Amino acid sequence: MNPANPENPEGIRMGTERPPELQDSIIQMHTAAMREMEEPRDGLSPTPVAFLIVCFLFTMWGGYYMGTYAGDWTGNGLSELRTAGVTGPVAPQNPMLLGQEIYNACTQCHQGSGMGLAGQFPPLAGSEYVTGDVRRLAAILINGINGELVVNGATYNAQMPAWKDAYNDEEIAAVLTYVRNSFGNKAEPVTGKQVEAVRKEVGTQGSWTLQSLTEYAAKK
Ligand code: HEC
Repeated sequence: MNPANPENPEGIRMGTERPPELQDSIIQMHTAAMREMEEPRDGLSPTPVAFLIVCFLFTMWGGYYMGTYAGDWTGNGLSELRTAGVTGPVAPQNPMLLGQEIYNACTQCHQGSGMGLAGQFPPLAGSEYVTGDVRRLAAILINGINGELVVNGATYNAQMPAWKDAYNDEEIAAVLTYVRNSFGNKAEPVTGKQVEAVRKEVGTQGSWTLQSLTEYAAKK
């Protein structure tokens, strides 16, 4: 029995009232137990369901993200960046779209149909200059051409402006790729490298005539 304690007449043992030796050993025992890692077990343990759910959610999110932002797997969205004035090293554009955009500069003469205007501006549709030798075609765009020129059997004699200052190699390549594959034309695309090579050779010269152009095209 407990000796009479005026604050605890029933003599109930409170936790803190354990004898100090016992208290210490309890603490020691628990610290030791908590320091130990879980015992490794033999064999495979099942993948936690929570982990599987997280994986599943990430996969769904990835699919949703690609579906939303892939732009139908084309470079089309970049053309909007371009017209919005965004410059710098963006991914390569779809040359047909860029070319179509640049072709707006050609329509006043060659027309949206690529048919030109009888007696004034030659057609690009069905033209051997357009679908033929890339080097000659790039040369026409870079320096322009004037004097007599026979296109699709009709003779023209006017001035085609030079475009070397208006557009860089990639842009000229794009508009050439566009005219080579529009209005019923079908020909290999033109690369910026091809235009660059021609610009290096003749970029400092003036407008072509049929004769100087033919001479240039002949010497490879
Ligand atoms: C100001 C009017 C004008 C504009 C704008 C113009 N051209 Fe021409 N283009 C001509 C004329 C005129 C000729 C024929 C030149 C001659 O008679 O010697 C010609 C000839 C050509 C030829 C060779 C002949 C043929 O019909 O195949 C090509 C290719 C050509 N132009 C492409 C273009 C492209 C691409 C653009 C736009 C970047 C363009 N032109 C813009 C007037 C123009």
